[in-house]
Amino acid sequence: MTDAVLAAGVPVLGSDDAAWWRQAVVYQVYPRSFADSNGDGLGDIRGVTDKADYLAGLGVDAVWLSPFYPSALADGGYDVDDYRNVDPRLGTLDDFDDMVAALHERGIKVIVDIVPNHSSDRHEMFRAALAAGKGSPERDRYIFRDGLGENGELPPADWASIFGGPAWEPVGDGQWYFHHFATEQPDFNWDNPDVHAEFLHTLRFWSDRGVDGFRIDVAHGLSKDLPAVLPSQAELDAMDTTDGRHPLWDRDAVHEIYREWRRVFDEYDPPRIAVAEAWVATPERRAKYATPDGLGQAFNFDLLEADFDAAQFRHIVTDNLAQSAATGSSSTWVLSNHDVVRHATRYGLPPRRGSLAKQGSAWILAGAPADQIDLARGSRQALAASLFLLGLPGSAYLYQGEELGLHEVGDIKAEDRQDPAFFRGADPERDGLGRDGCRVPLPWTGTGSSFGFGAAGAHIPQPDWFAGYAVDVEDADPASSLNTYRRALALRHELQTGESLEWMETGRDDVLRFVRPNGWQVVTNFGAEPFALAEGEAPVLGELVDGAVPAETTVWLRG
Ligand code: NOJ
Repeated sequence: MTDAVLAAGVPVLGSDDAAWWRQAVVYQVYPRSFADSNGDGLGDIRGVTDKADYLAGLGVDAVWLSPFYPSALADGGYDVDDYRNVDPRLGTLDDFDDMVAALHERGIKVIVDIVPNHSSDRHEMFRAALAAGKGSPERDRYIFRDGLGENGELPPADWASIFGGPAWEPVGDGQWYFHHFATEQPDFNWDNPDVHAEFLHTLRFWSDRGVDGFRIDVAHGLSKDLPAVLPSQAELDAMDTTDGRHPLWDRDAVHEIYREWRRVFDEYDPPRIAVAEAWVATPERRAKYATPDGLGQAFNFDLLEADFDAAQFRHIVTDNLAQSAATGSSSTWVLSNHDVVRHATRYGLPPRRGSLAKQGSAWILAGAPADQIDLARGSRQALAASLFLLGLPGSAYLYQGEELGLHEVGDIKAEDRQDPAFFRGADPERDGLGRDGCRVPLPWTGTGSSFGFGAAGAHIPQPDWFAGYAVDVEDADPASSLNTYRRALALRHELQTGESLEWMETGRDDVLRFVRPNGWQVVTNFGAEPFALAEGEAPVLGELVDGAVPAETTVWLRG
């Protein structure tokens, strides 16, 4: 039996078309760990410019840069001091303009990260709020409350921050401020018009500099409705997160903000695009962020949260294609990013302990010592899953280093770690390794200082085994993960003709096969037994063994 999954029949779009984002391959750069041009151990903007040819050669349509703004790095740059500048350690606005020009010359779009739920505690608006005192208009831009107890010495509520520890911080005058994340990340009050103005200014600032789009951090958190008497954490936890009325998360009111932003995006030609990072309860709730009068597209983390399992993958794809068609958006697909254990390693975790424990937005390796991780299996399954994903209709978001098949670094010493999730909530004796393991600077060369990352060391130490995953090493091997990604991305331009697929019967529960409108087919064998193709069927991507798709392998067939 086959079931057709919508047939919007959207034609393939050139990169200058206003709808370039619908089926784009977007490559996430984590700037501090990508390439270090000046040998200070920290990746920088010029480092991205220097690698523009690498990105073009890989075949990506767009680059999304995680925050590069001035920051104390209390949360890897997601604590922003100034939304309209470049961290001096990473370069200057001129360097940024040069990078945009270099990428645009190569047909690569640029997406920057907007962090509107919170600023850093060093942002001038927060400093002004502290200085101006209780009841001032400046304090109203953030979420301040009087403490409980005689002199306000107790927090206004027992809420826990997502990174662990308390979510309310005293400021010494009987008031406390709210922070969903680290203490250094005070949440904005989005009921205040100055906050709206600050972000409209920021969106125009980067759009005017030629940025093509925005990734919106914690898009589901901006709107809040906090009553005079705050509920307890237990009461918050018991509240429904699907009706749009939770005090903190995924409130229907948040979409008013994005309608305002859309009007700014549409001031530009082509309109600027946006993608929501919204960890919400259901695909239906996610779709609300992806409307044409809102952000337009939303990350779909379902594949990232799934096992390497045919039934789960099929269900997720069918469901999400239907959801995105309903809002006129296109699906997004993600397997790795800077917040989760790299998928090559996730898939190699031991089966019985292989489930990933989720701690707020941070994924941790669930107690799997390095010698219990089957790296080879993880690598095989990761490539198979990536090639499956790249054959799907919609946008594919890739995380730097996944094209190399890079693994998570599990054994970073506590003193070398940077992630607040590690320091605030995690117990190193147990599982909480935080997110530094996927943020280790990339290996560009198999030898030399910091494996070609830069002329000095790397800001998070790289393990010796990174040498085997270096770009120049993989470059020289036609069968490497890097060269396979390059072939896939080149072929993808032919494969992406319409935003639909049809599942084909395979006779096996552990094999998925789908066909795109132009006849291109993707076959993924999730199982352990080879899957025989019909006589004469010869893949253009992926190798058969004795006429069959080997275990844990994806192949593409030309239409
Ligand atoms: C989501 C980002 O992806 C993550 O890295 C960050 O810690 C939180 N938002 C807070 O900004």
